Amino acid sequence: MKLRTWGPKDITSGTRVFLRVDANIPVEHGRAKDGGVFGRISQALPEIDALRKRGAIIILASHLGDPGGKAKNDLSLAPVAKVFERRLQRTVSLVQNFDLPVLRPGELCMLENLRFDPGEEKNSDAFAWRLAKLANVYVNNAFGVCHRRHASVHAITRHLPSFAGELVRREVEELSAKPAKPFVLVMGGAKIATKIGLLEQLGPQADRILLAGGVAVTFLAASEVALPAYPAALMQESDIALARKLLRTFGRKIVLPTDLVAHPKLHIVADIGPETREAFAHELHKAKTIIWNGPAGIIERPDGKDGTLSLAQSMFESSARVVTGGGETVEFLESHKMLKGFAHVSTGGGAMLAFLGGERLPGIEALRM
Ligand code: 3PG
Repeated sequence: MKLRTWGPKDITSGTRVFLRVDANIPVEHGRAKDGGVFGRISQALPEIDALRKRGAIIILASHLGDPGGKAKNDLSLAPVAKVFERRLQRTVSLVQNFDLPVLRPGELCMLENLRFDPGEEKNSDAFAWRLAKLANVYVNNAFGVCHRRHASVHAITRHLPSFAGELVRREVEELSAKPAKPFVLVMGGAKIATKIGLLEQLGPQADRILLAGGVAVTFLAASEVALPAYPAALMQESDIALARKLLRTFGRKIVLPTDLVAHPKLHIVADIGPETREAFAHELHKAKTIIWNGPAGIIERPDGKDGTLSLAQSMFESSARVVTGGGETVEFLESHKMLKGFAHVSTGGGAMLAFLGGERLPGIEALRM
């Protein structure tokens, strides 16, 4: 898939660039968590540098959380603008009501949370036009939000010459690469319903499908394996029915956990057990391609971390090309310094799943050649 990318003739000194980034990062007590090398801020910086070198005036724009079309203090991008300011070592003033400061070539500012306006999520053309009037050129470097048909991702491209940033171009290239065989798909996380597209799309190509986390628990229930404990709230009959259907289609490829770490009092499955970790390691060491989404356990809990770390270690030791993504897992692995050997760490959670699941992403479709 070829996307339109900008070149020297598109951006010269003084060109005003509306740069859509995905700076949707955790903010706690008024402080934004930067996210490290693989985090969304670090991944946004090279494009900003490249545009600044061309002398562009950059209007950074992002959403944060889900304010539902209303201004909410705790979802202001002010702490995020501060992170950009620190990382770029220059002023990044936060703009309210589209009242831009006077900026010279190479300077930048950041718009307040785009989702404070209901027009953003409605893909309103009037709102897109208000955004477009601020700039001469639109660059989308926000892969994480490309699955949303929102004004700053989709409608705005009708009003400005529009290009994919390098991060979006690279994400699309990496996630489109044909998997070398043996190809192992690893799926964890809480809910099977959000992964169904991915399983249906990649399942036929995969040689093995290793299931962990809540997804595996649902499959175990579908196989009528007696569970030591289960997250009752997460298990719905419709999910179990879905798992049954997938077992009929890909059953022979699916590897399910044979032991689980269960909390005796809380009635939850916290992690995959040691026997499963070893069986998964065996499969991962044979792989040439691994695509991984979702943690093996409840990584927020002390007794739910080891399975995910062991998966990452096995992937690191294999010679496979490893592709992963999804905010929380990436942050967790980064904090344990476990991402170094991975070929591609996507900045997208839902967007990565949708893309790998074969969906047409509105933000990407708008940038195709
Ligand atoms: C994400 O965190 O996956 C992206 O920023 C998209 O956010 P959203 O799910 O709120 O649209």
